Amino acid sequence: MDGNKLYIKGPQRMHGELLVQGSKNAALPILAATILGKGIFIIHHCPRISDVKHMLELLEDAGCRIHWEGHMLIVDTRELCNYRVSCSGAGKMRSTVTLLGSILGRMHQVEIPYPGGCTIGKRPIDLHLRGLEQLGAVFEHQEHTLYGKVKMLHGAQVYLDFPSVGATENVLLAAVLADGTTVLHGAALEPEIVELASFLRKMGADIKGDGTPVITVKGVPKLHAAEYIIPSDRIVAGTYLFGAVMGCGEVRLLHVPVTHLGKLPELLEQLGAVVEAEDDWIYVRMERQCRPVPYMVTAPFPGFPTDLQSALVAALSTASGMSFIEEKIFEARFQIVEELRKMGASVVSEDSFALIDGNAKLQGAHVEAKELRGGAALIMAALAAEGETCISGMEYVCRGYEDINSDLKKLGIMI
Ligand code: UD1
Repeated sequence: MDGNKLYIKGPQRMHGELLVQGSKNAALPILAATILGKGIFIIHHCPRISDVKHMLELLEDAGCRIHWEGHMLIVDTRELCNYRVSCSGAGKMRSTVTLLGSILGRMHQVEIPYPGGCTIGKRPIDLHLRGLEQLGAVFEHQEHTLYGKVKMLHGAQVYLDFPSVGATENVLLAAVLADGTTVLHGAALEPEIVELASFLRKMGADIKGDGTPVITVKGVPKLHAAEYIIPSDRIVAGTYLFGAVMGCGEVRLLHVPVTHLGKLPELLEQLGAVVEAEDDWIYVRMERQCRPVPYMVTAPFPGFPTDLQSALVAALSTASGMSFIEEKIFEARFQIVEELRKMGASVVSEDSFALIDGNAKLQGAHVEAKELRGGAALIMAALAAEGETCISGMEYVCRGYEDINSDLKKLGIMI
């Protein structure tokens, strides 16, 4: 990597075994949850990515102490004293918003800068606020920050119009210390919700129904510190599996909870790959050109994840025919299309649809990562391309991939 650029000479075939890093989307709300208990938390297999670093800056800002030992993270929340999140990292990351529920739960007031994150759509927070308001919180919109307060959070019936991952997390975080029982209807089913609920249970929370659309939380007076292992990242795993499929590779990914992958193994088989999997590993081998996919739509879990849509589009640009993809979660998530076209792909997108005419012989080019998952997908495309590809904007990729260079090297790729 040169500054924020990565150079890859293709084509290269992925082969080998890899222990997949900890999950970004599981780690971030779990770190937010530590605020709810007073004590020393030990979090294993925590990914050392820039979004986690920013979250830790916010926790430090609130008065927590942080210490890393390899991938074991120690968070001491005993001295937490600040309800205001003011540090510069806050506006860079979407997950700042999950601090609303946890800081309100512990401090009864909260002030955060409006959350940032990838430029993949409007990303409003109305569902988060409405959910928290039903538990008694009152919000004031200030010029640069959002201020919330509550005398005492109380249990309520909360209905989400859409199974938002972040809003589900926020309601859980606020409900665990509320007075009475909260029933959340229309909750997200993503594995990260189950991980957050399991972590909160380890802290002493009473939660039932996570992983289903109705979650019941009986508020408890107090939570304590806990120890937890972050699961491996299903999106990082999926990215590498698409990379293997594109370049006729053969990989075995270890420490991957296969149930977190939803229907991805079936899709890889549909593309033409040989797939074997057990509880915590998956093996994929590809010996032929990818088959096209007539229609695929992104959807909340267990549907096909929006976070892997770019990697699928990249893979299908080399498939033996026409594919059609619909993006239903975020409005601006086909940013990879323009970059793939620079590499010779025949892809067009309009509104929430992309039409991919496969059979492209991808060529090395200068391309730009414009957001996290699209950037990683461009790296997978570069592996299948003839000649050198330079990918700029690698800082986006570092938000979620701890050390993609080292992962690729372990999978036999020269960078
Ligand atoms: C999380 C993940 C992200 C993933 C997404 C969907 C984290 C840190 N990020 O993001 O990687 O792509 O789930 O699986 O876990 N919406 C509203 N109002 C709201 C909240 C959401 O309209 O208050 C809309 C969003 O604009 C989007 C859709 O709901 O169109 C899904 O968003 P949501 O599930 O909340 O995603 P995030 O939690 O932001």
